[in-house]
Amino acid sequence: MRLRFTVNGQPHEADDVWEGESLLYVLRERLGLPGSKNACEQGECGSCTVYLDGVPVCACLVAAGQAEGREVRTVEGLADGERLDPVQEAFVEAGAVQCGFCTPGLLVQTHDLLARRPRPSDAEIREALAGNLCRCTGYEKIMDAVRLAAQRTAEART
Ligand code: FES
Ligand code: FES
Repeated sequence: MRLRFTVNGQPHEADDVWEGESLLYVLRERLGLPGSKNACEQGECGSCTVYLDGVPVCACLVAAGQAEGREVRTVEGLADGERLDPVQEAFVEAGAVQCGFCTPGLLVQTHDLLARRPRPSDAEIREALAGNLCRCTGYEKIMDAVRLAAQRTAEART
């Protein structure tokens, strides 16, 4: 099939796509967007999280054909040109990145959380990130990063 959809605000077309291949494969291998990571390919780790029509999904569980005509926003689309999103800056500043495999998914999920809950409690952060697994950091730096991102996002809005 020919897949037509929007990625990070730009229209894209991909030819000879097998309907059953994953959106994650299309993004990484056909469109050259390697930010979303392929860690488990079965919906367990959250490393491949992207927005699909504004809702975070595991791109490894979305068939390419399901993305036809829809809008995808990947971790590459969070930054404004060269300027990182406050969530991205906070992860860097808090030292919440080690191997980085989980980071793109955590960034998208945190971005979504703060859009819905600008000042989340620790319990709300844990719940929102429950589907994003990290085997390096022990999660404390990630919690610090999300708290910092919430603070920065709130400051940016005032
Ligand atoms: S690679 Fe998609 S959830 Fe792990
Ligand atoms: S930083 Fe390595 S899996 Fe999270």
